[in-house]
Amino acid sequence: MKTTSLVASLTLAVSVQGLNVLITNDDGFGTANIRAMYHAMTALGHNCYIVASSSDQSGQGSRLIFANNAKLTSDSEFGIVKSGAPSIGTDPNDDHIWYYNGSPATQVLVALDYVLPNHANFSVPDLVMAGPNYGPNIGPFLYGISGTLGATQTAIARGIPAIGYAGTYGTQTAYYDIQSSTKAGLQDPATIMGRLAANLAQAFIDKAHSSSNSSTGRILPLGYGVSVNFPLISSFTDDSCVNPPYIRARMTGDGAFTSKAVFNNDTGIFGSANFADDGTNMCINGDCSLPGEVEVLNSDCKSSVVLFTIDYDAPYGESSLVDPYTALLPDMVQLNNATNLVGGLGANASVAGGASTSTTGGNGAASTNSAAKSGGSRLSVLKNLSSSTLLALTAGVAVLATLL
Ligand SMILES: *[C@@H]1O[C@H](CO)[C@@H](O)[C@H](O)[C@H]1NC(C)=O
Ligand SMILES: *[C@@H]1O[C@H](CO)[C@@H](O)[C@H](O)[C@H]1NC(C)=O
Ligand SMILES: *[C@@H]1O[C@H](CO)[C@@H](O)[C@H](O)[C@H]1NC(C)=O
Ligand SMILES: *[C@@H]1O[C@H](CO)[C@@H](O)[C@H](O)[C@H]1NC(C)=O
Ligand SMILES: *[C@@H]1O[C@H](CO)[C@@H](O)[C@H](O)[C@H]1NC(C)=O
Ligand SMILES: *[C@@H]1O[C@H](CO)[C@@H](O)[C@H](O)[C@H]1NC(C)=O
Repeated sequence: MKTTSLVASLTLAVSVQGLNVLITNDDGFGTANIRAMYHAMTALGHNCYIVASSSDQSGQGSRLIFANNAKLTSDSEFGIVKSGAPSIGTDPNDDHIWYYNGSPATQVLVALDYVLPNHANFSVPDLVMAGPNYGPNIGPFLYGISGTLGATQTAIARGIPAIGYAGTYGTQTAYYDIQSSTKAGLQDPATIMGRLAANLAQAFIDKAHSSSNSSTGRILPLGYGVSVNFPLISSFTDDSCVNPPYIRARMTGDGAFTSKAVFNNDTGIFGSANFADDGTNMCINGDCSLPGEVEVLNSDCKSSVVLFTIDYDAPYGESSLVDPYTALLPDMVQLNNATNLVGGLGANASVAGGASTSTTGGNGAASTNSAAKSGGSRLSVLKNLSSSTLLALTAGVAVLATLL
C-alpha cells in the first residue's frame, strides 16, 4: 500500500485495511481538517463515512440538539448546501459525506441509527474518528465542553472505539481551501494533520489486530477512548513542525485550565478567561508520572496522546489492565523522555507540497484566491500553550469558543 514506506521504521509488517470508519467533528462537514482526515483514511484502504454538522457546532460538549426543522433554514457552512435543502443529506460531490443539522453528539446517533444502517454497507463502525478540531482540546474542562470530544464520548458510550483529534491552529477553513502546496512548498497543515490522524489510527488498528486479543478485533476495549492534540503545524511558512512525534500524556497536570467569569464594567456582561486550578490538574487515575497535555504541546513540536475511559467513578483497587498504556497504545506513541523520537508520519516522511506528492490529503481542489487571502492570518494563533499564556488571553469567550 501507498503508505507502507512511511511506517516501515515502526515495525509494522502488514497494514490492516478495509475497516468501517465513521468520521465526525464539531466544526462542520465542510471544513478542511475533517475532509483531509477522511481522504487520508480512505487512501489507507478503509471504508469511510463522514456524518457531521451542517454548520459549526463548537463548544456543545455532549449536548443532544436535533434539528427542529426538516429543512435547512439557512445555507450550510461555506454554502455547500443551500437553505431549503433537507436537514440531512449528502455532499453534492460525495455520497459518503453526510451533513445533519444537529450537535456533534447527535451526529454520532444519527449516523449509527439512520445513515449507516440505511445508506452504508455496514451499521456498526469499527472506529469513530472525530476532528481534527480547530484549536486544542486540553485538560478535563475542555473534555467536557468540546463538541469533538462530546462526539467521541458518545461513540464510546455506544460501545465503539473512538479517537478525538485536535489541532492547535484555530481558524476554520473550507475543504476547497486546502493548498496542494504552500508558499513554503509543503503540504497544507490540514493535509498533514489528516495524514497524522490516519497514521495513528492505522497504528491502533494494526496493534489491535496483531495482539493476543485479535479475536475480538476491537481497537480499544469497551469504555476506552483516546484524545490527541497536535501542535501548530508550521507548513504554511516552514518545515519546523511538520512531522510531530506522538507522546504519551495525561489529561490533567502541567497547567490544564478551567475557566473563570470576568465581568466587564463597561458592557455590563460577563466574559470568560482561562484559569489554571489544582482541581483541574489533580492526578487520580492513570500514570501520574506522565506529562500533561499542556507540557507536551509546549515542548518542541510534539503531539499528545491521552488514553481515557468514560467510567468517571473514582477508582478502587486494581485496574483490569495493569499497564493500559503498554497494552493499548501502539509503539508510535512514545514516552516523552525517549531518545530518537519518530515523527507521527513515520521517520523522514516527505511533506513536500505539489499534486504529485499529495497521496493522502486534500481533494486537489485548492482554490488560490482564498489560499492567498488566508495565508498570513491563518498563522496568528497560539504559539505557546503555557498556562501563563492561556491565563493572559483576554479575548475571553471569543478565544475560548475557537478552542473548542
Ligand atoms: C462495503 O463497501 C466498500 C466500499 O465500496 C467495499 O470496499 C467493501 O468491500 C464493502 N463491504 C462489504 C461487506 O460489502
Ligand atoms: C485481552 O483479553 C484478556 C482475556 O480476556 C483480558 O484479560 C485482557 O485485558 C485483554 N487485553 C486487552 C488489551 O484488551
Ligand atoms: C470594575 O468595577 C469594580 C467595582 O467597582 C472595580 O473593583 C474594578 O476594578 C473594575 N474593573 C475594571 C476593569 O475597571
Ligand atoms: C521516562 O518517563 C516515564 C514516564 O513518565 C518514567 O516512568 C520513567 O522513569 C522515565 N525514564 C527515565 C529514564 O527518566
Ligand atoms: C532518516 O534520516 C536520517 C538522517 O538523514 C537517517 O540517519 C535515517 O537513517 C533515516 N531513516 C529512515 C528510516 O530512512
Ligand atoms: C513557552 O512558555 C514557556 C513557559 O513560559 C517558556 O519556557 C518557553 O520558552 C516558551 N516557548 C516559546 C517557544 O515561546
